[in-house]
Amino acid sequence: MLEALKKRRAVRQFLPKEVEQEKIEQLLEAATYAPNDRMREPWQFYVLQGNSLKRFEQVAFNYLQQRFPTKPNLVESSMQAVTKTPLIIVVTSAVVEGDEGATLDNKFAVSSAIMSMWLMAEALGLGMVWRTRGVGLVHDTALHEFIGATDSEHLVGTLCIGYPEEPVTTEKKRTPFSEKTTWV
Ligand SMILES: Cc1cc2nc3c(=O)[nH]c(=O)nc-3n(C[C@H](O)[C@H](O)[C@H](O)COP(=O)(O)O)c2cc1C
Repeated sequence: MLEALKKRRAVRQFLPKEVEQEKIEQLLEAATYAPNDRMREPWQFYVLQGNSLKRFEQVAFNYLQQRFPTKPNLVESSMQAVTKTPLIIVVTSAVVEGDEGATLDNKFAVSSAIMSMWLMAEALGLGMVWRTRGVGLVHDTALHEFIGATDSEHLVGTLCIGYPEEPVTTEKKRTPFSEKTTWV
């Protein structure tokens, strides 16, 4: 398990190759086994590929142009996260009306589900990155509206998935747990 956790990496460059339906379904199935408070199973998944992904390109482009009107190069490079990704899965978390604690717990559960998907992706030979910023559009309304999520859902992750262009070999060093742990 530790080996698998150490090996998991954010993959951002993909081959122009479709992800098979069976593998997409395995990712989604893996997510549903995540721990979740009171079995609220607070996740919803929105799968974007082919035509819907093409339509999302325009939404992402409009957002970036509005956000960075004087930086066309940045807009162009940021767009690659959409145009060169064969599969995007947007994951939302359910809001529990009038209960901030439960709403937050739902986000913890959805985060766990996303981590399960990340590890499952690696096991299937796929690469994945969880995006929130930029074209991840988690902190904006554009993607929420595009996928048709309800007001009772919060976006948690925009997962860009595909076959890795090349294996990510650079190591991302972690701070030893001893520096992050208080033995109370
Ligand atoms: C909540 C969350 C949001 C993230 N948002 C982005 C993002 O918007 N863009 C991006 O390129 N990577 C994003 N990442 C990926 C991180 O940058 C990446 O996990 C981190 O650099 C550590 O690298 P590793 O995953 O390869 O260990 C996000 C990761 C998490 C958990």
